[in-house]
Amino acid sequence: MKTWTTANFKASKGKRRLGCITAYDCTFARLADAANVPLILVGDSLGMTMLGYDSTLPVTMDQMISHTAAVSRGVTRNSLVIGDMPFLSYQASVEEGVRNAGRFLKEGRADGVKLEGFYPELVEKLVRTGIPVVGHLGMTPQYFNVFGGFKVQAKTWEAGETLISQAKALCEAGAFAITLECVPPDIAKAVTEAVSCMTIGIGAGPDCDAQFLVMQDLLGMTESSPKFVKRFANLGEEIQSAFAAYVAEVADGTFPASEHCYKPAAPSTAG
Ligand code: KIV
Repeated sequence: MKTWTTANFKASKGKRRLGCITAYDCTFARLADAANVPLILVGDSLGMTMLGYDSTLPVTMDQMISHTAAVSRGVTRNSLVIGDMPFLSYQASVEEGVRNAGRFLKEGRADGVKLEGFYPELVEKLVRTGIPVVGHLGMTPQYFNVFGGFKVQAKTWEAGETLISQAKALCEAGAFAITLECVPPDIAKAVTEAVSCMTIGIGAGPDCDAQFLVMQDLLGMTESSPKFVKRFANLGEEIQSAFAAYVAEVADGTFPASEHCYKPAAPSTAG
C-alpha cells in the first residue's frame, strides 16, 4: 500500500495542508513520488503542456490513458495518481462516464479520476463502482468557450452560494476532494468550511485544504504563467543552457572526451 490513500488524503482536512502537482510522464512522477507529493494529477492540461494544443479540448481518452500509465509506472511508494477525464469522455451519459473512468484504473493503474463540472449522479455512481473521484468547480478549462475565456469565476457572493451548494452536493455524492480553480480567496475559504471533503485550490487563495500547481509552472519551464503561480525553480533556463553547452562542446570537440569512451578494441589475433 502506498503512503497516500484517498482515505488518509481526505482525513488530512483541517490537520495538514497538502501540496499537489500535475505530472505527465514516468521520469517526473518518480521524482514527485520520491519527494512524497501526496497526489499527482495526470491533468488534461497535458494537451497544452506536453502536446502543444491551445486548449484541453482535443485531448483523447487514449492519450490520457497512455500518460496516466506512464505516471503510474514511476510511482512506487507514496503518491496517489489521479487521471483527469478529458472533454466528452463523461458528459454524454453516466454509463459512458463509468466505462471511461474505469479505463483509468484498469489500464492507467490510477487510484481515481478527476472530472470537471457538476455531475453528482455520475460521481455517486463512480464511487459506488469503486472509483474514487476528485470534483472540479470554478474555472473549469473544458468550459472556456462558455465562459468566454479562462476567467476567474464566482466573483460575487450570489455565484459563490451556487459554488458552495454544488461543492457540497459533489462531496455528499462521495467525492473525496474538490478542485477549486480561479475563484476569489474568500469564496474558496467559505467552500472549504462548508464541505467535509478536501478542497484543492489552484488560484483560489491560501485557505483551501490543499493546493495544485501545474508542474511546468512550478518548475519554471513555461514562457509565461498565471498570477497565482509561484516558480520554485528555473529549470527552463537551466535546461536551455545545458542544451546549448552540449551543442557547443560537440561542435568544438570537447565532448565526448576519453572518459566517455569505451576501451579501444583489442588488436586482431587472426593471421
Ligand atoms: O488539467 C489540469 O492540470 C488541472 C489542474 C490545473 C487542476 O485540471
